[in-house]
Amino acid sequence: MEKTKNVLLCVTGGIAVFKAAALTSKLIQNGFSVKVAMTESAMEFVTPLTFQALSRDRVYTNTFEEQDPSKIAHVDVADWADLVLIAPATANVIGKVANGIADDMVTTILLKTTAPVMLAPAMNVHMYDHPAVRNNMETLRSFGYTFIEPNEGYLACGYEGKGRMAEPEDLLEMVKHHFIKAENPDWQGKKILITAGPTRETVDPVRFFTNRSSGKMGFAIAAEAAARGADVTLVSGPVSLDTPHGVNRISVESAEEMFQAVTSRFPDADIVIKAAAVADYRPKLTYDKKLKKKEGNLNVEMERTKDILKTLGEQRVHQTLIGFAAESDDIETYAKKKIETKRVDMIAANSITAPGSGFQGDTNELTLFKRNGEVIHIPMTAKTEAAKKILDEAMVIHSEEKR
Ligand code: CTP
Repeated sequence: MEKTKNVLLCVTGGIAVFKAAALTSKLIQNGFSVKVAMTESAMEFVTPLTFQALSRDRVYTNTFEEQDPSKIAHVDVADWADLVLIAPATANVIGKVANGIADDMVTTILLKTTAPVMLAPAMNVHMYDHPAVRNNMETLRSFGYTFIEPNEGYLACGYEGKGRMAEPEDLLEMVKHHFIKAENPDWQGKKILITAGPTRETVDPVRFFTNRSSGKMGFAIAAEAAARGADVTLVSGPVSLDTPHGVNRISVESAEEMFQAVTSRFPDADIVIKAAAVADYRPKLTYDKKLKKKEGNLNVEMERTKDILKTLGEQRVHQTLIGFAAESDDIETYAKKKIETKRVDMIAANSITAPGSGFQGDTNELTLFKRNGEVIHIPMTAKTEAAKKILDEAMVIHSEEKR
């Protein structure tokens, strides 16, 4: 069993303390162990009881209040933490820690801990821009602390600007990413190019040809690769999905636009995963004005689009190349053929007829066919889980190719 990750949340005095309460709950719901330390000012906003109830643990507030005589509380909790998150982080706590001041529970813990420290600043926009605060943040960065940038927008003091603490959902993602990154050293900074979704091939201003791809598989791969620490570019056709955290998304419509977006970024990529369902045909003629109906049938002549994956297969130098195949039958034969014709390292093939697999849904059953003949079956699972397996195998191939 994986060891539970220990997150020490240091709460300092700002109105965003309410978001820290929501974050505590989210961390607990996501399986983290959470302990909370609060400053005097934080307790002016919310009592420790809120955090005690949410974390189901005592809250650390006073360095001199030693509840357990066998331990020194600030040392014990600092050693317990796998990660320390200061949220909200006020200008005051940033200044104190940057200058080595330890005059309360939170700052004493921060000087003691050897765990990585993340800060989510929250303050007035002018305080955030003050040269003293800027200098202190630079100092903390030089210690290896990481900052979760505040958002722009309405501030509780009535100002508009940068200073709103990141939302609890975003902080949760950052915490998750921190641990996933630590477990995936191979992925740090790898340039991953992923395609997702359908393409849209225009007939006239109101009509187009498309397919049933939802983009969920490609987006799940992009989200997981970014969480692992890769530098991810996601070229996506029209889908109704939010861009995953830390992913650079390029939105395209047609197969031709996808071709341009992908081929121009290909030279820099380390690993390319083509999960998009690209149209193989598009209308030969497109009309500027809406087509009016007439008597009789309408014939739309279709012409072939460029095969992006095949083009990449021809151009590849150092890149690891992975394609998808959605088949109704004879999956293995077609998948193996695609490995050869498109010169890819692996095809992730799924049956579009198997229940719970393929387009639209949240689950998928896949078989990975590798160029070296290896075949790996991924039984029906969430697309988010399948994404992990696909990436694991992509990295195996990539590491072998580099050798
Ligand atoms: N692909 C592509 N460019 C196209 C068409 C497909 O890059 N114009 C990619 C897809 O992103 C996917 C793989 O090729 O990774 C799918 O292969 P393809 O042979 O096009 O699949 P199907 O259209 O399902 O196959 P076929 O019509 O040959 O049965």
